[in-house]
Amino acid sequence: MPADWWARDDLHRAADGRLIFAGKDVEALARAHDRPLFVYGAGRIRANLARLRGALEATGCAHRIHYAMKCNRFAPLLELLAAEGARGGAVGIDICSPDELDLALACGFRAADISFTGTSVANRDLDRLLAHPDLHINCDSLGQIRRIGERRPGRAIGIRVNPGFGTGYGDSARLTYAGARTTKFGIYREQWAEALDLAARHGLRITAIHFHVGCGYLSDQLDAWDQAVGAAAGFLADLPDATTVNVGGGLGVPHRAGDAPLDLARWSAIVARHFGGRQLTVAVEPGDYLVKDAGLLLLSVVGVERKRDTTFVAVDGGFNLHPEPAHYDLPCEPVACALREPDPARWQPVTVAGNINEALDLWAEDHRMPPLEEGDRIALINAGGYGSAMSSNHCMRGAFVEMLV
Ligand SMILES: Cc1ncc(COP(=O)(O)O)c(C=O)c1O
Repeated sequence: MPADWWARDDLHRAADGRLIFAGKDVEALARAHDRPLFVYGAGRIRANLARLRGALEATGCAHRIHYAMKCNRFAPLLELLAAEGARGGAVGIDICSPDELDLALACGFRAADISFTGTSVANRDLDRLLAHPDLHINCDSLGQIRRIGERRPGRAIGIRVNPGFGTGYGDSARLTYAGARTTKFGIYREQWAEALDLAARHGLRITAIHFHVGCGYLSDQLDAWDQAVGAAAGFLADLPDATTVNVGGGLGVPHRAGDAPLDLARWSAIVARHFGGRQLTVAVEPGDYLVKDAGLLLLSVVGVERKRDTTFVAVDGGFNLHPEPAHYDLPCEPVACALREPDPARWQPVTVAGNINEALDLWAEDHRMPPLEEGDRIALINAGGYGSAMSSNHCMRGAFVEMLV
């Protein structure tokens, strides 16, 4: 497997081995900030958006892309996406809390281009959301339908259904939101009659179904995704007012050497087979697919030390800055920003450890890297999604800088 399996046009090594991202020398970016730095590439985000848009065009369906804000809420990144939408690019945003709504509006999205898909929604949340008549709300529980009906009879709503099938990166159960294990997400088939009855009782018009069945799926998971889409499509039969089907997010990016990029042609063929010719708008709600591989987290090496049979590379940022690798086993591969040894055959296995007092705070174990020294910089790839957004101030080590280049 090539050491630089992640390399592509905008992320690669120059002839002298230095890491280049979005046309910039990554180590120079890191040295300009003496603390952990998330750097996001605008060009890569636009390229990801264009690729997905192309795949949706291939379905022949009307379509929209609603970026899932929970993935990364850095304001310049949101403004970039809002500008894409304003240019007629059918780009909206999906939010999951009232504060995210305020941020989306502040970053340039109109309420009509915003959808809400949240869970465990309090009445105080609903009151803030319902103040925006153009906001589209997907309900994921019977109680949410009832409480919206009581507050705004006659309103249009969407329903997040749980088709009972799902998938996620590497078939991971933790990343699968619908399937054998009962999850909190969406309304199940067994609840469907009651959902329809509640909506009818309050005159609510169900204009959309929504399903999001897992995170990070790649081509190997597309058969399972196809099955989930088929089961979700079955709910449409009872919805004469439906204008939109939202197929959720979950489209994955390669995380490990050996992961192939998601086959978007196969993905769009599944969408076309289930929804083509139905006069529906197909909405898709990606977070990771747009921004994950467009971000690096840059850290400094604070020490290199052999303990028993392991070489530890200690760095100045821990899992609290990007909890996904620790919680979901979605690795952010550490990459040296400059090469002291160009021949990967001579690299040695190391464990890259963060600065949090938790045993699980390891970025990588048994990971081959070139020789590193105190003061060197490393980049964690695939840090653009669920990093800064999920970060915490654990051990009061939550400080970082973000930039869009
Ligand atoms: C309802 C919903 N939509 C979209 C997403 C975005 O998922 P991803 O970043 O995997 O595309 C999520 C993430 O959990 C979600 O819960």
